[in-house]
Amino acid sequence: MALPSFIIVAIDGGAASGKSSSSRILADRFNLLHVDTGSFYRHITAELLRRDVAPTDLPALRVALAAMQFSTRLCGRSAQMLIDGQPAGDEIRSQRVNAHVSHYAAIPEARHALTGYQRGQTDVARQHRFRGLVMEGRDIGSVIFPDADFRFFLHAAPAERIKRRAAEGGQDSIAERDRLDTSRKTSPLTCPAGAVDIDSTHLTLAQVVEKMSVIIATKLTPA
Ligand code: DC
Repeated sequence: MALPSFIIVAIDGGAASGKSSSSRILADRFNLLHVDTGSFYRHITAELLRRDVAPTDLPALRVALAAMQFSTRLCGRSAQMLIDGQPAGDEIRSQRVNAHVSHYAAIPEARHALTGYQRGQTDVARQHRFRGLVMEGRDIGSVIFPDADFRFFLHAAPAERIKRRAAEGGQDSIAERDRLDTSRKTSPLTCPAGAVDIDSTHLTLAQVVEKMSVIIATKLTPA
């Protein structure tokens, strides 16, 4: 079978479903750029909170978003978003950002502001000679790259996800974020038709990655 010269792997799923851990391992295994789009939404949320722009104040939100310049730098194999040249700080994983991010992410203007930037990560991956990219989020296989070579949807029972997040030492309103992310009108979290749906409740991370790797390896020889 002819190998595609550049592959796109989309991984969607709810909070703490194992997207980040599995996509980082896949990035290493197949020489892909790792793109965590949740960190992009977290970064703009932290920035909007810092500027005191409420999600309900649409005019101010539009002005603030239009003025933000997005660029990318590499952090190992991961794409790190810079806003006006500045990387995100640790606060993007704070309880405050956890509590607000889904509210900003539900606003079409905020999603629109990031759409082109997310798709443009293919250029970053090509420039840095990766064999493709693995992008994780909520709408990657449905909206950002509906034609991705591989689309996975990860889910796990809520109790298991809360346990995993607690083991990481994080406090997160997982159920509330999932409720907001699945019920919003624009690009809701959903398993797109044709995506490979993986229930990781009773699987180890290694088993999840193995399932994905076997599927990817049908088209791509490991680097
Ligand atoms: O992946 P994460 O939990 O760090 O994502 C944080 C939030 O960002 C999530 O609750 C919803 C939003 N998000 C989104 O709406 N679309 C994406 N592609 C990625 C994240």
